[in-house]
Amino acid sequence: MNPLLLIKPAICAAIPQCQKNDYTCLMKKILAFETSCDDTAVAVVAGDGTILSEAVYSQLEHHLPYGGVVPEIGSRAHIEQISVVTKEVLRRANIFPHEIDIVAATFAPGLLGPLLVGAQFAKGFALSHNKPLIAVHHIAGHVLSGLGEAGFCAPPFVALVVSGGHTALYDCNQDYAMTCIGETLDDAAGEAFDKLGRALGLPYPAGKQIDELAHEGQPGKFIFPRPLRHCDSLNFSFSGLKTHGLSEIRKHAPIDAQTVADFCRGLCDSIAEVLCDRALQAIKRTGHQSLVVGGGVAANSFLRTRLQAMCLANNIKLFLPAVKHCTDNAVMIARAAIIKLKQERFCSMDLEVVAHLPIERAGEL
Ligand code: KG4
Ligand code: ZN
Repeated sequence: MNPLLLIKPAICAAIPQCQKNDYTCLMKKILAFETSCDDTAVAVVAGDGTILSEAVYSQLEHHLPYGGVVPEIGSRAHIEQISVVTKEVLRRANIFPHEIDIVAATFAPGLLGPLLVGAQFAKGFALSHNKPLIAVHHIAGHVLSGLGEAGFCAPPFVALVVSGGHTALYDCNQDYAMTCIGETLDDAAGEAFDKLGRALGLPYPAGKQIDELAHEGQPGKFIFPRPLRHCDSLNFSFSGLKTHGLSEIRKHAPIDAQTVADFCRGLCDSIAEVLCDRALQAIKRTGHQSLVVGGGVAANSFLRTRLQAMCLANNIKLFLPAVKHCTDNAVMIARAAIIKLKQERFCSMDLEVVAHLPIERAGEL
């Protein structure tokens, strides 16, 4: 045996169920699919988390005229693209389909049509090449997307997932079972960015552009409400902030470029502050020492800077994925599948996709 393999890698050491100690799973090649919304994402990732190749086909242009994702259009675009993207990813990884060891796909939650396309394609690939299949919960994917990239975070930890559809805090236990300990009572943070961006005339999804514009803006020119600030809970609420933002935009109409930038700066600062404040509360309540952050809004530069400062000041270990692995991608699905591979939790070919499945029921996949 290669002597290097005698050193138990962090990823193996942190998974209690991984008793085999044969390390062969580190060399396995996982083909992963993520199609829960508007991105056709495929990746090949090795069992130690190393990316061998990845590609994302963004459907943005298909949905742009409608100002949001149209599920039927999304399903059709996934059908058209999934085999093209898969072939390209295998070509870039320089491997043949039969060299894939495990197939993984998002089975829940998400838009039913798009989920069906990815899961059925994954089943077809697994069946035709006689490979095992792993079903992944999309939120578990966001939580574990930093695996092998931002260093490996051994559970227990607190996870903050901030995306277009979710804003929630999870308590992840030793066995990677997650429990929601706080969530938004209304809009998700990404939704607030997108809706206010739309009112500013920015294309959907607006989060990235608001982030960029905010760098030209002055802090403190726009003060947004900090919802539930004095409330003793780990929940979030962004609808009041959104309503306040909409009325400010109306008040300043026609809005000039500098005012837009100032507005974006105020928005980024307030959302980042609320998210950091709640994440810190969650760390204090659980007593965990690590914070893992994922989801599209985790790409926000103001949030990243504030999280880093907060964690440094409070001696918390922070795990942030690379910016490109914050938004939906297939690498995160592969990395979540690695944990299930080590736990030997494969799924049946009869498994159906589910549009809504709380993370507490992720074990059903
Ligand atoms: O995780 P994701 O790709 O999809 C969902 O599962 O929802 O997140 C998309 C969300 C969108 O709302 C988008 O505006 C937001 O992430 N987003 C950002 C940034 N990049 C993407 N929000 C703030 N700042 C960014 N840099
Ligand atoms: Zn997502």
